[in-house]
Amino acid sequence: MKTEQHNNNKRLLSSLLRTAKPVAYFIFLLLTYALGYLSAPSARSSQPPQQQAPPFASSTPLNAVFSSSDFDSTSNSVIRVTVNSTELDSFRVTTRCADPISPELVRRTLVDRLFNGTSPFSNFPPPHAAPLLRRTKKIKGWGSNGAVFENLIRRVKPHVIVEVGTFLGASAIHMAELTQRLGLSTQILCIDDFRGWAGFIDRFSKIPMVNGDVLLYFQFLMNAVNFNKTGSILPVPFSSGSALIKLCEWGVYADLVEIDAGHDFFSAWSDITRGYQILRPGGIIFGHDYFTAADNRGVRRAVDLFAKVNGLKIKIDGQHWVLHST
Ligand SMILES: C[S@@+](CC[C@H](N)C(=O)[O-])C[C@H]1O[C@@H](n2cnc3c(N)ncnc32)[C@H](O)[C@@H]1O
Ligand SMILES: *[C@@H]1O[C@H](CO)[C@@H](O)[C@H](O)[C@H]1NC(C)=O
Ligand SMILES: *[C@@H]1O[C@H](CO)[C@@H](O)[C@H](O)[C@H]1NC(C)=O
Ligand SMILES: *[C@@H]1O[C@H](CO)[C@@H](O)[C@H](O)[C@H]1NC(C)=O
Repeated sequence: MKTEQHNNNKRLLSSLLRTAKPVAYFIFLLLTYALGYLSAPSARSSQPPQQQAPPFASSTPLNAVFSSSDFDSTSNSVIRVTVNSTELDSFRVTTRCADPISPELVRRTLVDRLFNGTSPFSNFPPPHAAPLLRRTKKIKGWGSNGAVFENLIRRVKPHVIVEVGTFLGASAIHMAELTQRLGLSTQILCIDDFRGWAGFIDRFSKIPMVNGDVLLYFQFLMNAVNFNKTGSILPVPFSSGSALIKLCEWGVYADLVEIDAGHDFFSAWSDITRGYQILRPGGIIFGHDYFTAADNRGVRRAVDLFAKVNGLKIKIDGQHWVLHST
């Protein structure tokens, strides 16, 4: 054992020596390049300090501060980079949202931008999927009929609702029923990649799959058709990050944003951050599972941090968290 290890060490040492030369050469090349680049007339060093940008709306690049005394090509070649942490805003989101378009234009705009002008409900269902879809009025959801939906819809009287995390449409259809009952002409935009999550077929074996393509999207459309909600519900069948960024760029804002997609901290954090960005002044963002221990309480940690960073007060309604915009 011992001699084996000794031999291993020797082998390691000699291979290290073999690679050391090219590595040193490579580092030398890198340094030459870096020093040449930095000694060139630089806009960065002569720029006045960047103005403090408002949170969530800035496109200021990360501000690494270099000073000429940090580089000494004659003695030891150590590059020190000082990051001025007071100039960093870690919670910044880079896109500045466009001016809002009128709520009446939202559906048309999205059908054009997302679906090349043709509603996803037209000629639905396609022949290959039709025999596989269930025509049922029982839709699996999670807290999808909670009182929070009616409470907030009555309060806000939304023109546009954005739901992040739709699954089979239980909560979206519930909201559509409520807005209809209250005489509102509300558009409900359903952001979901309609893939579920890795391994979800363990629990949802009834949702058919064709060549590994789970038919969640088609079953959601079918449910909207069954409940006669195709005029008020519109799918946005993409990942939440890319969809929310585009809504922001296209000036599509919401009076209500519901967050119920990925429940790990990072997913919840980015959905909440981007969802908040497209909230109209006075709008409300809310979401499910404030109390669940799933994903290491990711949702709760994200909501708490977001509220803290933005000076917002968290309200609780049943299983849901609620944040009012300022
Ligand atoms: C808990 S389910 C939503 C349930 C629904 N709100 C209800 O009450 O019936 C979560 C959904 O989020 C979707 N989802 C998860 N991560 C996503 C992501 N990054 N982008 C888009 N959708 C995502 C999944 O496909 C799944 O349908
Ligand atoms: C860091 O940046 C801030 C804001 O631009 C400035 O007031 C402060 O003097 C800087 N600190 C250092 C050590 O450069
Ligand atoms: C989009 O619509 C235009 C005209 O309506 C058509 O020419 C084009 O082929 C369509 N593109 C796709 C990807 O369907
Ligand atoms: C479906 O909903 C529309 C309003 O969106 C309504 O005018 C129509 O009567 C409804 N049809 C049925 C069969 O309930």
